[in-house]
Amino acid sequence: MTDLILETKKLTKEFLGFVAVNAVDLRVERGSIHALIGPNGAGKTTCFNLLTKFITPTSGEIFFNSQNITSAKPAQIARKGIIRSFQISAVFPNMTVLENVRIGLQREEGTSFHFWKSDASLDKLNDRARALLAEVDLLEFQDHITSSLPYGRKRALEIATTLAMEPELMLLDEPTQGMGHEDVDRVTRLIKKVSAGRTILIVEHNMNVISSIADRITVLARGTVLAEGDYATVSTNPAVMEAYMGTADAVLQGAHA
Ligand SMILES: Nc1ncnc2c1ncn2[C@@H]1O[C@H](COP(=O)(O)OP(=O)(O)OP(=O)(O)O)[C@@H](O)[C@H]1O
Ligand SMILES: [Mg+2]
Repeated sequence: MTDLILETKKLTKEFLGFVAVNAVDLRVERGSIHALIGPNGAGKTTCFNLLTKFITPTSGEIFFNSQNITSAKPAQIARKGIIRSFQISAVFPNMTVLENVRIGLQREEGTSFHFWKSDASLDKLNDRARALLAEVDLLEFQDHITSSLPYGRKRALEIATTLAMEPELMLLDEPTQGMGHEDVDRVTRLIKKVSAGRTILIVEHNMNVISSIADRITVLARGTVLAEGDYATVSTNPAVMEAYMGTADAVLQGAHA
């Protein structure tokens, strides 16, 4: 028996008669990096919006740790440990890197704006914030103003503020989008590193990233699951290659280069 952290059953979302997500059965194993891929408009982001209850499914069910969360509210979802990166990672550009992580931690502890808290608890907070910064290789930048960070480092900071929420399941929607080579490599390694002891569901167009870190891949096309399996399996699937034709076909090949 596989240990599923997340399962959807016939998850469906219609927008005015247009079926963006169509009877999707997603099974995410605990501790894995699970990728959701597919051509533009396949329904990937809509799936994420459904999982975080940003939008309500038309039909179907969502189970987290075997518990039916289909009608849970977004705040309840977050409290249960499903955290989508960008949702809470609105980093404050004029604060330092350390301050940003500290705010994430205070939010987690529900102590935001309790300025009367003791020095001892502030020290404890700083220690935890520094540990998270170390985890994403940003410790040396702790006193830098956030806006001065290079793009890839900002994404690393976003990941640190996400980790501050103690996610059991992290949802990352195109984490390497708009990045140059070096940043892509850095963030890819970072995702692999922070996946230890956690589960990650990632939407990503870069097949090099997918092939190097994803344990399992679900391919969506026009709202439905086209294929599922490891990289070797899905990248050689004729239906997948056809869905990607003209665009990612080359990319799928390129990942082996
Ligand atoms: N709020 C909405 N109202 C109407 N249609 C929507 C809405 N949100 C998404 N759609 C449509 O649903 C389809 C799936 O969109 P979605 O954003 O989930 O795709 P995606 O797989 O994330 O694509 P991309 O790779 O471009 O990010 C698209 O055709 C989109 O236009
Ligand atoms: Mg999208």
